[in-house]
Amino acid sequence: MKIGIVGTGNISLRHINEFNSIPNVKVEAVCDISEKNLTKFLSNNEGSNIRGYLSLEDMLEKEKMFDGISNTTPDKFHKETTLQILERGYNVFCEKPLAENYNDAKDMVNAAIQSKKINMVNFTYRESSAYQKLVEFIKSGEIGKPRHVSASYYQSWLTSNKWGDWRKEDKWLWRLSTKHGSNGALGDTGVHIFDFAVNAVGDIKEIFTDLKTYYDKGKKIKEYTLDANDGFNSLVRFENGAIGTISNTRYATGHANSLILEVFCTKGALKVELDEERKKWSKLNVCMDENINKMTWKTIECQKTNSNYQNFIKSIQTKSNIQPDFFQGAKIQNIIDKCIESNETGRWISI
Ligand SMILES: NC(=O)c1ccc[n+]([C@@H]2O[C@H](COP(=O)([O-])OP(=O)(O)OC[C@H]3O[C@@H](n4cnc5c(N)ncnc54)[C@H](O)[C@@H]3O)[C@@H](O)[C@H]2O)c1
Repeated sequence: MKIGIVGTGNISLRHINEFNSIPNVKVEAVCDISEKNLTKFLSNNEGSNIRGYLSLEDMLEKEKMFDGISNTTPDKFHKETTLQILERGYNVFCEKPLAENYNDAKDMVNAAIQSKKINMVNFTYRESSAYQKLVEFIKSGEIGKPRHVSASYYQSWLTSNKWGDWRKEDKWLWRLSTKHGSNGALGDTGVHIFDFAVNAVGDIKEIFTDLKTYYDKGKKIKEYTLDANDGFNSLVRFENGAIGTISNTRYATGHANSLILEVFCTKGALKVELDEERKKWSKLNVCMDENINKMTWKTIECQKTNSNYQNFIKSIQTKSNIQPDFFQGAKIQNIIDKCIESNETGRWISI
């Protein structure tokens, strides 16, 4: 199967490695509007005969046929590039967040429906086998009904140099400045933790969100004001009656990249804790039955599950769209818009 990639920045390296590791799948062509990034990508992949182009139009014009195209451009380009891909009749795997706002996300959903092509959003943390088991537990009813939820996404790149120095490298700006097209932590990592919670527990009915920008970290880099939010706390009421807190910050010293989800249900409790090294991605913690009175948690080692990349390929092969699709991406985008509205008005907002 022949795959194309739009955008040859940081995350594209993961895309090429993941796709090329699937039997009979190969990234054949890539494009980027930055010659520097394209050249670097091609030289890193020398010997693999990948063809490079300086625009998506050129790639779509000159290449004969793709089975699917991966979109790894920055957030503000997702809509225009994805619509071009769908118009040409190709299946598309788009990086998160699906769009910059709910209206754009809905346009992308409609285009995907019209094209009848496979459409997926790369909500990476769905790949955890422990998380998938947690979802299964809840959906089966085995652990009862969700009552109380705690979901956190912690990073610390504002306080540590583990991933580099945001004060010195331009690559951080799209996460820090609205002028650069950023929705801050909310649009970058918030989408992941909302997808994580909603997919497991159910739809959110109402939300109250407090966004925070730490201006004391500095006001500007070059002409860019560092005005994007650095974190948030949301109170949520789910449709099924459960309540919860959803929290996200880049100021969580001691955490490189941790997602923690705890769901307390009527017949027990479930917990996953994803770490940067993926050592805990297969470990689901469960407290139920006789362990409830002993305060004891049993850790279940869950069998490896498909990556999103494997599921995209499988969806194309079987002509059946595996989740998360654009509809889910748009649902999460709607929540992000409502968080902004809640922060601006100081009110609970219906979803
Ligand atoms: N799923 C995840 O966990 C995860 C992790 C990191 C980043 N991301 C997402 O991936 C996307 C890219 O992030 P990144 O860190 O790789 O960014 P990046 O800036 O390193 O790379 C993006 C590349 O796209 C190119 N580009 C921009 N507009 C283009 C266009 N119209 N046509 C072709 N190329 C174009 C840029 O020149 C750049 O080389 C973002 O939307 C981000 O949210 C997702």
